[in-house]
Formats: sequence, structure tokens, C-alpha cells
Amino acid sequence: MSIMNVIRARRSVRKYKSETVDDAVINEILEAARWAPSGLNNQPWRFVVIKDKKFKEDLSRLTHYSSIIASADFCIAVFYNHDSGYHRDKDLMSIGAAIENMLLYSHDEGIGSVWLGEILKNKDKVNELLSIDNRNEFVALIAFGYPDENPQGERKKMSELILKVF
Ligand SMILES: Cc1cc2nc3c(=O)[nH]c(=O)nc-3n(C[C@H](O)[C@H](O)[C@H](O)COP(=O)(O)O)c2cc1C
Repeated sequence: MSIMNVIRARRSVRKYKSETVDDAVINEILEAARWAPSGLNNQPWRFVVIKDKKFKEDLSRLTHYSSIIASADFCIAVFYNHDSGYHRDKDLMSIGAAIENMLLYSHDEGIGSVWLGEILKNKDKVNELLSIDNRNEFVALIAFGYPDENPQGERKKMSELILKVF
């Protein structure tokens, strides 16, 4: 698919088939994240891959969106590594770019995903559950799996988005 087709066709997928995603594909999803841009090329992102059913169930109890996590084939928890960070806003935007790379690459591979933020209300509990130290701040959970729905979210009109053109 052309990059623009991938960008335009990707949607958040919240229902998944029971089919398993190959480890090789999971590694490529992480590879897509690894090549994201970051301020000073500091690469402040860190990842935990969660395939284990019990860990998924325990994570799902920490958010309102539990059924999404429980039905996902796997999840990637994304952390902000404070030791490599230099500017919170810029670091978090870089991490957002890494996440978007994962969403787009997955879509192109026929894998659905959704970026979950509501679980951040329990960020300390996520660190505890995954045994991750507090120098790595939990900032997002991404659920992945082969899609069992075809959502069609819309967007604002371009005219609402452009504040000015000089
Ligand atoms: C920072 C962020 C947090 C999000 N948190 C959640 C969430 O907790 N639960 C959920 O179902 N979707 C969540 N989403 C997905 C958005 O709802 C979704 O991207 C948006 O509605 C646009 O739809 P689309 O991704 O299908 O284009 C989140 C997306 C972002 C970028």
C-alpha cells in the first residue's frame, strides 16, 4: 500500500480474531518504532511486549477498556525512559511518533491496533504489575490483533484545522 493509503485507511480496531500474530511480525512492529525520529536522536522510548494471557488479564483490570485488552493477541506497553529524556514535551512527542509508526506498520501488515490512554490513570500499578522501575514512566498501551471489525472513524474538515496560511 502507498504510505498515504496506509495513513488514510488505518483506524483503531477494538475487536480481534483469536489468530496469533507471528513473533517475526511483532519484531517488525518494534522495528518500526525504533526508527521514529526523536529530539537529539535520544530515542526515549522503551517497550514491554505482553503476550501472556494472565498478564493481559491483569492489565485489563486497570482500565475501563478491559475487553479490548483481554481479546487482543498481544499488547505493547510503552514507557518514557527518564534517563535518556531531555525535554518532556519533545520526548513525549517523539514517543508518539514511535507509536504511530507501530500503528501504521501494523495496519499495512493487516493487523489491527488501538492506542489506549485511559489506563494511564493506573500508571504506577502498570509499572508494578510488569516489574518496571520508576525511571521508565508508563505512557501508553497499544493492543494488537487480527481485526474482527472494520471501523470507519471520520475527521474534521481541513478548513477547521488550518488556522492561517501566510
Ligand atoms: C493518546 C490517545 C489515547 C487514546 N486512548 C484510548 C482509550 O483509552 N480507549 C480507546 O478505546 N481508544 C483510545 N484511543 C483511540 C482514539 O479513540 C482514536 O484514535 C480516535 O477516536 C480516532 O479514531 P481512529 O483511530 O479509528 O482514526 C486513544 C488515542 C490516542 C491517540
